[in-house]
Amino acid sequence: MENFVAYNPVQLHFGKEVVSNLGKTVRQYGTKVLLVYGKGSVKKNGSYDDVVAQLNKFGMQITEYSGIKSNPVIEDVQNAIKLGIENQVDMVIALGGGSVIDSAKMIALCIPGNLDAWKVMKMRAFPKKSLPLIAVLTLAATGSEMNMFAVVQNPETGEKMAHKNPLIFPKHSFLDPVYTYFVSPEYTAYGIVDLIAHSFEAFFAAGKADLSDRFVQAIVQEAMRYALPVLKEPDNYDYRANIMWIATSALNGTTAYGRAGSGDWGVHAIGHTLSVLYDTPHGASLSIAYPAWLKLMKNRIPDRIKQLAKLIFNTNECDDFIVKLETFFRQIKAPVKLQDINIDVSRKEEIVNAMIKTKVNGYYQELSETDLEKITDLMFGNKI
Ligand code: NZQ
Ligand code: ZN
Repeated sequence: MENFVAYNPVQLHFGKEVVSNLGKTVRQYGTKVLLVYGKGSVKKNGSYDDVVAQLNKFGMQITEYSGIKSNPVIEDVQNAIKLGIENQVDMVIALGGGSVIDSAKMIALCIPGNLDAWKVMKMRAFPKKSLPLIAVLTLAATGSEMNMFAVVQNPETGEKMAHKNPLIFPKHSFLDPVYTYFVSPEYTAYGIVDLIAHSFEAFFAAGKADLSDRFVQAIVQEAMRYALPVLKEPDNYDYRANIMWIATSALNGTTAYGRAGSGDWGVHAIGHTLSVLYDTPHGASLSIAYPAWLKLMKNRIPDRIKQLAKLIFNTNECDDFIVKLETFFRQIKAPVKLQDINIDVSRKEEIVNAMIKTKVNGYYQELSETDLEKITDLMFGNKI
């Protein structure tokens, strides 16, 4: 086992109507709130009304920044920083999925020093502190509600990247599974793919960490167990609650302790390229990229893939594991080939070049330019 530091300061409020404690919880951080949300789903799922009622009840002054897009862009982050500074806000409340929470993390981080958020992402500017961030989660997927990562893209440079910083752990996260009843079947499935991908990324980091391997097994198997039931019965509290907690647990440190680093993240880097180029939803990029990556890696790290195969599907064969994984993704209607999201082979060069330009790589499983081309072929369903 590798040495590790376990640190996660997020106070997580989980369950039915937990937002009824939001007002008194955030009041301790001041009175002026920057409320950040997306393109309007929060007004249909009841969360916006609940949050605003709580803030009004405690006499808070609300400034809103809405319109954060899925696969969030740095321009929105910059605009919200400006708005927050103008209104001298004391805290940031993120209301939505991973895109909103990630944007809010960077907003809260950059307001105190009036910093350029992209410079911070690129580690060219270094914030000393952050405003308190409070998250109200409406979509089970990324784990952002209980981790120190923010992922934002810059269309100008063609990059989508993650920033890791202990200052951006939310102070509090409120998770009411009822809000997720309204998530579409597509995004419900993408969330499940994402949490499985997070568990796999951790699994493929260096270091022997048996307990963390078992957490990976439990998280992935539980997600697979609840996937079809939750798609069939989207307003079943128990199914939604389980999926929500599983997704949080997949990227809050649990699966990474005892390994070197939080994960390999090569497949995420491949997926981010697709999101930058075609605005592919994050989970959809991963259900295409993971099988392709495994097909390349099965000759390079066969023993590790076989260990995962044994844990997840009780099979000893890499090929059987990959087939079963693709079958599961198809069952929940997640794409497994680029053609499934209407990207045809004429795009191959564009994809390979974009990956090379942004230096797509894993932290532990290195990807050469030839590997990136092979993975692209595999994502089109071609043999290599
Ligand atoms: O914009 P609105 O109207 O809110 O609609 C959203 C959006 O269209 C909708 N939605 C959210 N909650 C809903 C809902 N619709 C109905 N009912 C609800 N309760 O769902 C759509 C997708 O939302 P988004 O926030 O983009 O999804 P997700 O939570 O999957 O976040 C994806 C982003 O997180 C990043 C991804 O790269 C991507 O940019 N990631 C963040 C990570 C982290 N911070 O740790 C790790 C991940 O690997 C990932 O990279
Ligand atoms: Zn992810």
